[in-house]
Amino acid sequence: MSELEQRIKAISEEALGKIRCADNLDVLNDLRVTVLGKKGSLTALLKGMKDIAPEERPKVGQWVNDARQAIEADIEATKKKLEEAKRAAQLKAEAIDVTLPAKSIEMGHRHPNTIALEEVERIFVGMGYEVLEGPEIEYDEYNFRKLNIPDGHPAKDEQDTFYITKDILLRTQTSPIQARVMEQGKLPIRMIAPGRVFRSDEVDATHSPSFHQIEGLVIDKNITFADLKGTLEVFAKQLFGPEIRTRFRPHHFPFTEPSAEMDVSCFKCGGKGCRFCKNEGWIEILGCGMVHPHVLDMCGIDKEKYTGFAFGVGLERIALLKYEIDDMRLLYENDVRFLKQF
Ligand code: DAH
Repeated sequence: MSELEQRIKAISEEALGKIRCADNLDVLNDLRVTVLGKKGSLTALLKGMKDIAPEERPKVGQWVNDARQAIEADIEATKKKLEEAKRAAQLKAEAIDVTLPAKSIEMGHRHPNTIALEEVERIFVGMGYEVLEGPEIEYDEYNFRKLNIPDGHPAKDEQDTFYITKDILLRTQTSPIQARVMEQGKLPIRMIAPGRVFRSDEVDATHSPSFHQIEGLVIDKNITFADLKGTLEVFAKQLFGPEIRTRFRPHHFPFTEPSAEMDVSCFKCGGKGCRFCKNEGWIEILGCGMVHPHVLDMCGIDKEKYTGFAFGVGLERIALLKYEIDDMRLLYENDVRFLKQF
């Protein structure tokens, strides 16, 4: 065997031995470069062809090519084996145990305020009322003046709020929506208007600087106090149960005349008196009255032809009563453990 043939054989055997031992694809690739690459050992032999006698060249070329093919075939076969092993390991590592119980998705749900509001809306929509809204940032004009509360009126002190300018404020009540709807002049009116209101109040169990009211307004021909009482009684019975009784106490609101507050018989003790109703037997739930003729006038409604009634309910108050929650702050803290109960 010629020296050249021996060298080719040696390179080839060394390479094949290393390929057999290669345990990852990188090692295999390095081997390919060191033997078959541009500067590889076998390639170097081919480059040295010019020093070989011309008649020897085809033979040497043949040896080199045979060696090259054998090495390439071995590299390919080993590569395939390594790739298969790698994939098998990956599949094993990423195996999903389909028998594991699925992570449950926790569903959120409605806030007690929202549940109470939807209940009130359902009752009034059932009686043919529209649900409207008004702006939270309101003109003094609508929040006070058009509701018969002129500058200097003591009601303005009781309902202090955040003033953006002298004339623009965060509304203290939903009543300005009454004026806005009446002004549009589309009669008759039968609407409720829920919304957020703001007052300069300290936070405690029954107060918050921001809370919600639901306003109600009916304007038509021949509307009387009897309509007001009948409507609000139906509302109370639907909200708290058919056994509930109502009572109206005279009160004063600047934009209604006469005005009243409506109480419902305590739904805990049935009116006998208990801790829940502070031994009164009755629980106050809203303010109401016949729309003041001067308010009708200011809002462009003919007070000779039309009359109407209005009412205002505190939404939090309804939610607290319905769910027997004794501290309003719980409604705003948004502790999920608390909210989950409703
Ligand atoms: N806006 C009144 C308040 O915040 C509540 C109210 C009382 C509204 C009587 C009315 C009403 O519509 O007729 O204290």
